[in-house]
Amino acid sequence: GNRQAEMTLTFHPDNRSVQARFGETLLDAGLRQDMNLPFDCRNGGCGVCKCTVLNGEVDPGLYQPSALSPEERTQGKVLMCCATALTDAEIEYAAGDMRGVPVRSFNVRVVQMQLLGHDVMQLKLALPSGEALAFKAGQYINILLENGERRSFSFANPPHDAASIELHIRLVPDGRFTPRVFHGMKMGDELHVEGPLGDFVLRESGRPIVLVAGATGFAPVKSMIEDAFHRGIRRPLYLYWGVRQRRDLYMAALPEQWMREHDNFHFVPVLSEPGTDDWTGRRGLVHEAILQDFPSLQGHEIYACGSVKMVEAVFPHFKAQGAEDGMCFSDAFT
Ligand code: FES
Repeated sequence: GNRQAEMTLTFHPDNRSVQARFGETLLDAGLRQDMNLPFDCRNGGCGVCKCTVLNGEVDPGLYQPSALSPEERTQGKVLMCCATALTDAEIEYAAGDMRGVPVRSFNVRVVQMQLLGHDVMQLKLALPSGEALAFKAGQYINILLENGERRSFSFANPPHDAASIELHIRLVPDGRFTPRVFHGMKMGDELHVEGPLGDFVLRESGRPIVLVAGATGFAPVKSMIEDAFHRGIRRPLYLYWGVRQRRDLYMAALPEQWMREHDNFHFVPVLSEPGTDDWTGRRGLVHEAILQDFPSLQGHEIYACGSVKMVEAVFPHFKAQGAEDGMCFSDAFT
């Protein structure tokens, strides 16, 4: 068809029109013209900038499949940070239940550091003003490094307990940020962060919930479960926490306590490399334990948080066992 040099993009729900240059992403065009659009990675990896093309021709560009599923593509969804308009277009961006929690950037102060297990630091951060930060259970913040890079960490505390922000930081020995947390960071240090970000939040329904955590993927899941208890949610909650060895279950006493206190909550730790440990619990990969325990996953909501590798590996298995597309949610970290 005819290629225009400038396209008019109309964003909903704002009903605001801006001009996009040929080849300019929807996100860049909107931000350049002072729109307040949701984004995080700007690289097709996080899914925060998801939108629906209502009309017009839009090239989705290149992105990671974990950020936008084939089903979402058939529903006309694209990622604003990757997609470019080929004609004038109307776009509805992901507002929904993320509205009302604006993304801000601000300084926080380290108010508590505690080593959990052998390689996870529990960091508590507070706003200097003492004010609590509004967020939704399952969301995350970015820590901004001096060189402009970002590191994402999920809130481990629930929103009703937000005097400080709790993060679980696993040591990445050759990383740029986490070695500093373990060697050198001290109480009172300041960090620059932005957030809250992400849409990995519990959907409102009556369905049973299967939560899959890999390693420190336990952090957002902890926030979601504590929030669910606090809100009196009675839906069945099944937590599967997959780690290599017993020592990696850095907070196992907590889900064990939840099990004693809440009869709708079930906790299954799964070790992939128990070694010579006398572990009598489940062994293998975390999704295998779920497939064994749920002959059908139809009608369940599944929330998975862990490495990109884990998250991308588990869903095809769950779908083959009846899990429905619209009921699978994930948050992946590298
Ligand atoms: Fe992360 Fe677009 S901002 S996918």
